[in-house]
Amino acid sequence: MTLHHLLLILHLLAASIWVGGHLILSIRFLPRALKQNDPDIISNFEKQYEPIGMPALLLLIVTGIWMAYDFGLKVNHWFSFLSGIGMVISIKLILLLLTFAFAIHARFFVIPKLSKHNLKEMAVHIVAVTVIGVAMLILGSTIRYGGIH
Ligand code: HEM
Repeated sequence: MTLHHLLLILHLLAASIWVGGHLILSIRFLPRALKQNDPDIISNFEKQYEPIGMPALLLLIVTGIWMAYDFGLKVNHWFSFLSGIGMVISIKLILLLLTFAFAIHARFFVIPKLSKHNLKEMAVHIVAVTVIGVAMLILGSTIRYGGIH
């Protein structure tokens, strides 16, 4: 097994946790919380999920950037959108920044005062991070075919 293959396996495991966790939250827990107007359903899920979700996201970033380097795409090539793979990496990095923006806003401005009144605002954050996660996964799957042109 090559180092790149090992990194890819770790990347895929972390992607399963990140995307899978957000899909379960969006499809199962969020609709129930909205129906029962009960923010505790979300808070309880977040408490259980955060300790494994955050390290998974960190692992996605480390293994992703490492594999990008292995493909010869160093920092100075990021956001150059020149090659098919460079294009995918650049879009993935922009979506990563967007994920951070939603996560930081939710963590510091929405979750601390999570109640029946701002449950819908929380729902927007959850659905956005889930859709972005699925988009990152689809973008990742194009790399073995040379990326997008
Ligand atoms: C939510 C975050 C992310 C998810 C869900 C995700 C998901 C995936 C998936 C499903 C693949 C497909 C692997 C395959 O074809 O077998 C992949 C590949 C890849 N990802 Fe990500 N990824 C994420 C973040 C990142 C980041 C931040 C980077 C680096 C900038 C990155 C770089 C790569 C690279 C270089 C590959 C290609 C590996 C290869 O085919 O050898 N990913 N990703």
